[in-house]
Amino acid sequence: MAGYSDAPMRQLAAEQGALWTVSEMISARGLALGGENESLHLGRPHPGEYLRVVQLFGADPDILADATRKTEAWFTPAAIDLNMGCPVPKVRGKGGSCLLQTPETAYALVKAMKAATPLDVSAKIRLGWDENRSIEIAQGLAEAGAAVITVHGRTAAQRYTGEADWEAIAQVAASVPTPVIGSGDVLTPAQARERRALGVAAVMIGRGAVGNPWIFQALASATEEEQAARNRPGDGEGDRVPALPIRAAVALRHAELQHRFYTVPHRFHPGEMKVASMRPLRKVLPKYLPELTELHPALTSVETLQDVQAILRPLVQEQCERV
Ligand SMILES: Cc1cc2nc3c(=O)[nH]c(=O)nc-3n(C[C@H](O)[C@H](O)[C@H](O)COP(=O)(O)O)c2cc1C
Repeated sequence: MAGYSDAPMRQLAAEQGALWTVSEMISARGLALGGENESLHLGRPHPGEYLRVVQLFGADPDILADATRKTEAWFTPAAIDLNMGCPVPKVRGKGGSCLLQTPETAYALVKAMKAATPLDVSAKIRLGWDENRSIEIAQGLAEAGAAVITVHGRTAAQRYTGEADWEAIAQVAASVPTPVIGSGDVLTPAQARERRALGVAAVMIGRGAVGNPWIFQALASATEEEQAARNRPGDGEGDRVPALPIRAAVALRHAELQHRFYTVPHRFHPGEMKVASMRPLRKVLPKYLPELTELHPALTSVETLQDVQAILRPLVQEQCERV
């Protein structure tokens, strides 16, 4: 997720049991033509990171092939994904959901990417541009060699309005030999289990994981029987979000990981370090502590790690004093 699934968020998700994670989308052109600093951050793994897919967007087969080779060499991903779902106009002209209007171009892109790497190449689509063409497009992608197809159950025209159509996702899963991952509106472990039962190979969780990495733990740590029991009315033990001091501790850790990952040698002042800003976490930190609305103004104006520590440490200490 652009603006969210960077290395610190992926690390927390993996620690909590996410089966695998996906980078923010990266411009194939940016990588192929220059390897801009920004793109390098987007693709760079955190120490010890492995089951992570790197996602590229673009519309030109040669550029995607070149970017695929660079992605493999620079970022050591487990697989490389083609974005065919982003509806943002800036991206659309260069790929993203535009490819749903000209799926033949997308099939050529997948083939070009596959020819450039021995790694698995996957694709992430929406149901279509403004009508549901997902079965036809998924079948074309499968024939082109996509190893996995993720389907977000909305059209590009819908952007994020309405509800994701999981029946349509299930129909795609039943129509291709390729594993299909479903995406859209999964906010709780119970919803993830229900959607998984529709016949998809896996469920992707996006917005529901922001400030809530425990959603993966609840899904990863239980046996099939325990998972089934949790979906029965009145149960759900093990699905609950942790107590406030624990959530505060993980929010603090998110900030520390942010500090560690983005504090890098200064480009123009050799020997100096450029200290990470906490601004990108302003939209994330309140999600860890939704009930503490009185802290949200402070959390949405943090600049430095020290700012975050000053707000969250007292909440974490509460826990230590209680134990
Ligand atoms: C802020 C934001 C950024 C996103 N960035 C990407 C992206 O870079 N690549 C991608 O394939 N999907 C992206 N998506 C779509 C999500 O991966 C997902 O398919 C969609 O949000 C529906 O799932 P959810 O309800 O679990 O979030 C993004 C969504 C949001 C809200």
